[in-house]
This record gives sequence, structure tokens and C-alpha cells, in this order.
Amino acid sequence: MTSHELRQKYLDFFKARGHAVLPSAPLLPDNDPTTLFTSSGMQPLVPFLLGEKHPEGNRLVNSQRCFRAVDMDEVGDNRHTTFFEMLGNWSLGSYFKAEQIPWVFEFLTTEVGLDPKRLYGTVFGGNAEIGIPRDDEAVALWKEVYAQVGIDAIAYADAVTLGMRDGRIFYYDEKKNWWSRSGVPANMPVGEPGGPDTEIFWDFGVERELHEQSPWKALPCHVNCDCGRFFEIGNSVFMQYQRVQEGFKELPQKNVDFGGGLERIAAALNDSPDMFLIDLFAKSKTILEQSSGKSYGADPEHTKAFRVVMDHLRAATFLIADGALPSNKDQGYFTRRLMRRAIRFGNVLDLRPGFCADVAAAVIEEYARSMPYLTTKKDDVALIMQAEEEKFRKTLAVGLKVFEQASGAVSAGGTLPTQQTFDLYQSYGFPVEMTQELAVERGIMIDRAAFDEELKKHQERSRSGAGQKFHGGLADHAVNTVRLHTANHMLLESMKRVLGRDVNQRGSNITSERLRLDFNYPERLTTQQIAEIETLTNEHLSKDLPVHYEVMPLEQARAENATGVFDERYSETVKVYKMGALGQYYSVEICGGPHVRHTSQVGTLKITKEEAVSAGIRRIKAVISGGSTMAEGEQAGEEYPGRS
Ligand code: ALA
Repeated sequence: MTSHELRQKYLDFFKARGHAVLPSAPLLPDNDPTTLFTSSGMQPLVPFLLGEKHPEGNRLVNSQRCFRAVDMDEVGDNRHTTFFEMLGNWSLGSYFKAEQIPWVFEFLTTEVGLDPKRLYGTVFGGNAEIGIPRDDEAVALWKEVYAQVGIDAIAYADAVTLGMRDGRIFYYDEKKNWWSRSGVPANMPVGEPGGPDTEIFWDFGVERELHEQSPWKALPCHVNCDCGRFFEIGNSVFMQYQRVQEGFKELPQKNVDFGGGLERIAAALNDSPDMFLIDLFAKSKTILEQSSGKSYGADPEHTKAFRVVMDHLRAATFLIADGALPSNKDQGYFTRRLMRRAIRFGNVLDLRPGFCADVAAAVIEEYARSMPYLTTKKDDVALIMQAEEEKFRKTLAVGLKVFEQASGAVSAGGTLPTQQTFDLYQSYGFPVEMTQELAVERGIMIDRAAFDEELKKHQERSRSGAGQKFHGGLADHAVNTVRLHTANHMLLESMKRVLGRDVNQRGSNITSERLRLDFNYPERLTTQQIAEIETLTNEHLSKDLPVHYEVMPLEQARAENATGVFDERYSETVKVYKMGALGQYYSVEICGGPHVRHTSQVGTLKITKEEAVSAGIRRIKAVISGGSTMAEGEQAGEEYPGRS
């Protein structure tokens, strides 16, 4: 069965059960300023999930093209992609769990032919705090469908500590088994719909070695363990709640929102955890193998490059076709980043110039029958890709001249100075592997270990760089220090709003326990001012504002009214952290970072002290508590994270 047949089977299966087949919405949402890209099937259907009548009725199905920019840096492993298709079916108050769970199971086992012994389910374990019970109804339905194929599925109350054992139905909390566009219940803004979900996983079984190789190997493996052994292939959200000021209320109708990963189901069917081995990538893979003379899968470094090129150019093809032309802003910025990354990784494979348009043509050919609209854009996509590739290659070509000069000064058998290797990487986009090979060609070497060391130092510097100077020092990059650093920005902005915009930071010191912020102000703050500052900060932190940074000329930062000191401490190009909804930022500040990705990761701020430091300079100390989960090293990136 091809992936195109799989998609059609899904649409037909639900059509036969009374669903109207909807076309996929474009990747750039219409009339939705809250998000840059369509990243799930339900996004265009929100008004209907909230109760508006859909013109096509109350049972809908489609395959939605989706783009998730947050996954860009993860691409290269066996399963991450930025572009994917989500198979979706919706009940707008028509049917509920008793139909949905058996239908999905039937579709996967009977229609697709997946072995039920290798399917696992997860359900919401309940949360007394928000008054939403454990989903025992879903468990009973799961047991029933398993019983019908002769499997006794025992539900485990504590899946993680029990490991896999014989259970097939696992309870998880809201971090895993609750779905809304803004994640866990606590992050949902008033008005947002959401609900508990039940997910279905495929076990690649024999691939248990994957767990042995993973960073989580010390813990028992379980369906959500992320080691790569299990793929989540589908998710039925029982969207029956809406966030209100005081908790949750039932929506006027009980909805089902299902999302199944077309590519993931195809990988399960293929029985290989390497998603890039499915047919949808075959044509572009052939082009790349021919152009490079290298085989996919033969060498780990090349395989990673193949995956990046295949994913990024597939995504860029769809984005360009939907109108996101490469540029320096908004959605087009992501198209540019995708293409530049693809070209850099293409150099690892020695791909000939012009390969981007060739891969795009292969992508369009692959989808010609199922998405004929792409074919009508074929020439435009080719021209745009060619122009963008040429432009980037010119930058790379200048770098090559710089390389020639630098390498000319090194005698045979010598080593290229690490600073020059690094400049080639940093200023001209030369992957270090490329410099290494060119050096080998000239009979000289590079010091790879020293380069890696320099890169690490640079990354650390750029994380703390401007911030280090401006903020007087971040003690470390521990999770709590990063949280407090973001709290510092939000606090400073609130102080400016309450005390006046000429209040500026005059020093800062942040440890993992507390923040200390010095500022200019002529007198002691009143209790009321302190309370106002605290409330304003917490009000905005709890909105779970997304955080990202942009690198821009200092003049632009000034024009955008970024908070900063604007003296000689800044270089011509600065990093600016923005916290808030796109275009309506709460805080915009020049800083080296790092920061949290979402302000709910900070928690709640409490001012513990306000005192004088010297004439006209005062000091605030503050602590935070209750921030949502954050991994070591996790931090806001360059892309606007949206609300997916
Ligand atoms: N909306 C749900 C998801 O994206 C189905 O996983």
C-alpha cells in the first residue's frame, strides 16, 4: 500500500461512516493572527468545535498538510520532520468515544493491516485539581476492542514505574494525555477548547536496541519514553471542555478531534522506525543519491544530511506553493532557513548546484496525483528555489575566496588556524566538514577538536554575551537561572509601565535562587507600586507568552523601541528577545539570552525586597515559584514558537 493509498483509505473509511471529506487548508492560516502556520488538522475548525454550525455537517474528515517550525533543529534523526500530513476526523457533537475508539482500531488493524499485538493505548489518568476524572470509559472501550482480537489488555495505573510488562493501556497525566492548542490545562487561555485524549502507539518491537542506545536507557522503557522504539501514530482528543475564568466548563457539544500521522502510520506499515524509508521520500532520495553518488543509510553523517535535505526541501516546496516565499521576515523567514540549512547539508553530500529545484520537482511529482494544485505551481517553485539557492551560494563563494587566501598562507602538512575555520563557518556558512575536505585537497589540515571547542565557546558567549554585560552576570545556565532571567525582563517591563519609561536597569545579578535588579528611581517604592508591578508581571507570565529572539542591526532594535542602554557596549548587530504574541510583544529587550521558551515556564514572581543602593539607585530582589517543566539546556530559539 502506498502512502497515497493509505490516505485515500482513511478518507474512504470515514466517508463510509457519514463524514464529509474536506480539502486541506493552506499552510498559512487565513484570518488567524495567533499563529504563523497550520500545525494541526483542527486549527481551521476551531469555531465549529466551539459550536458554530459547519456547512458540511457534523462529521468531517480530511488530510491536513502541517508545518511545525519548532522541530527544525531535531530533523536528522529517524523520525522528526517539519512537514507532515495529519489524518483527521471530527465529530462536532455527533458521536463520541464509543464510536471513535473502535473505529480507529478497526481502521488501523483491518484496513491498514497493522498487527494489534503491537498497538498500545494511553488514556488520561485524571486530575482532581481541575475536577476532570480518569477516563475509565476510554479504558473499557480499549479493553473491548482488544478482546475482540483475542488480547487481554490490562490497564496499568502507573505505567512508568511498571515499565512495559504485559499492559497495553497506560495512564498518563495532562502533560501527555490532554490536548489543546496551548498544551496542558494550566496554559489554556480563557475561551480555548481542549480535553483529555487517548493516543495509540506502534511498537517497533525488535528494535529494543533503540532503547539501549537512548539517553533514557537507565529508566524503564514505556510508550512515551521517546527512545524511538514507539511511535505515536494517532491521537483522539475528546474535546468537550472550554477554559473559563474559574476552571473549565463543558462545551455545548461533545467533540472528537482525531489526528493521525500519515507518515508515521506509513512507517509502521513499513515496519521500520526510519520514517525516511517510506515511499513519500523515495523520489527525492533517488535524485540525491544520483547527484551525490552516495547511498542513503551507508554512513551516519551522510544519512543525517540526506534526511535534512529531504525534509527541508519538501517543507520549502509546500511553503512556497502556499505563498511563503523566502524572505527575512514572517513565514518566508522559515522558508529561507529551511533552504539554507538544506544547502549546507547538501554540501556535506557534494550535491551539484541547482539541486534544490530538482528535489522540489521530485516532491511535486510524488504528490502530483493526490495534490494536483502543487503541479500548477511547479514552475514558480523552481524559479524561486533557483534564485534563493544562487543567492546563498554567492555568500558561500565569497567564503571560498577567503578560504583560498587563508589556506595559501599555510604550508603543506600544516594546519589552518582555527579562527579562520571558525570565521568560514560563522560568516560564510561553511560547514566544518566542507572546510576539512577542502583543506585535505590542499594538503593541509584543520584542528577539528579546537574548532568544536571554539564553537562551544561561541555558543556560550552568544547565549550570555550581550546579556552578560548588560545584566551584570548570569551565574550559570541552570534551569532556574534561565527562568529568573526571563522573569527579570518581564519585571523590568512592568516597572517601566508602573514607574515610567525612563526607569532603566543599572545592574543585575541572577543566581538560581533569586534575581537582583538595580534601577534608577528617586525614592522608595510604595507598597502599592510594588503590588502593581508584581501583579502586572504575573498577569503576563501566566498568559504563557511565547519567547523568541531575533538578530538585527542595532538601529533596527532602536527603531523597534527595544529596551537597552544603547551605548558603545553593543556591536552593530544585536540579539533582541521578544516575549509575547507576534507583533504585540509585552517585552522587547536587547540581550544575549538564554531565556525560557514560554513564560509559564517561569511560574509566579514575588518581590522579596526593595531597598536603596546609592543616591538615585534602588534595588529589587525577587524569587519565582511553580514554573512548568523545562529541560536542562532548553531555551527560546530564533523562531517564533507560535501556540502549537
Ligand atoms: N489536534 C490533535 C493533535 O494535533 C489531534 O494531536
